[in-house]
Amino acid sequence: MKTQRLLSGIQPTGKTHLGNYMGAIQNWVTLQDEYSPYLMIADLHALTTVYEQTENLNEIKKNLAFDILASGIDPKKCTLFIQSEIPEHSELHLIFSMITPLGWLKRVPTYKSKQEEIQGKDLDTYGFLGYPLLQAADILLYKANIVPVGEDQLPHLELTREIARRFNHLYGQTFPDPLHKLTQTPLLLGTDGRKMSKSYNNTLPLNDTPEETETKILRMLTDSNRVRRNDPGNPDQSPVFSYHKLFSDHETQTSINNACRTAEIGCLDCKKRCAAAVNTHLQPIRDRRNALKKSPRTVEDILETGTKKAKETAKETLEDVKNKLKI
Ligand code: TRP
Repeated sequence: MKTQRLLSGIQPTGKTHLGNYMGAIQNWVTLQDEYSPYLMIADLHALTTVYEQTENLNEIKKNLAFDILASGIDPKKCTLFIQSEIPEHSELHLIFSMITPLGWLKRVPTYKSKQEEIQGKDLDTYGFLGYPLLQAADILLYKANIVPVGEDQLPHLELTREIARRFNHLYGQTFPDPLHKLTQTPLLLGTDGRKMSKSYNNTLPLNDTPEETETKILRMLTDSNRVRRNDPGNPDQSPVFSYHKLFSDHETQTSINNACRTAEIGCLDCKKRCAAAVNTHLQPIRDRRNALKKSPRTVEDILETGTKKAKETAKETLEDVKNKLKI
């Protein structure tokens, strides 16, 4: 019996990329045999930053669901749904907002760091400050025990636990203490060497062709101190080598590491081998994408079934919450 509840989410804010896969989706795929995951497309969360550009949101959500399935998420094992289709998320968020001191939200470190990362948008909004509280509502609505996330999300999990404790203290035992489950993969760098992020325009989208993936990798920066072909390089300074560490086999890693330091291999060759390794990694996803396109069970179908199932659990929790609150 799978008794532990798992919930995780991902924002639909653009094309799904290799960073999303390595940082979240791949972890879900591994965990789906051990748990019965609730996996959520967090479109309300996306609205906290893209509220001015919603015209493509439906398309982005559908593509994201497609990418999640192509990555190996099995709809027989997982409940895949869209956050905004379950109004209980918004309702629980509002209820939580009544018991959350502003200071708790203002000191969440992602609040300031995201505002700095995302330029050119007014993020001085009520909704943006409440981002982690909405995430707490997502998690606690399903009384999740396990929440797989990347390291950057730890402060949100900490807040979720504080909210759960506060609610339990005020109204009686209702929510379990949700535990995070960290992704093993370190943060994937973008093609410019910064963190891979849509806001930096440095991603490797999952639905690129092998040629497009290769072109982007061939344009990547390497060790900036290695100016001429004959200069010895330092792989530890090269974002390309950080990819080799994740995608190339051990032997290739060792030989590239040595050949870079002695200038036996040039950056172009190194990048070509890197592109080949990344493309090998992406091939099963591309194959499943093609199979899905031909499958009679559509993505809409899968989402509808998932939403129905998630709704049952969400409704139950919200009834419990309202009873406890006597409203
Ligand atoms: N904030 C998460 C992220 O950006 C996405 C998310 C929304 C989430 N709700 C969640 C993750 C609930 C885990 C649980 O990655």
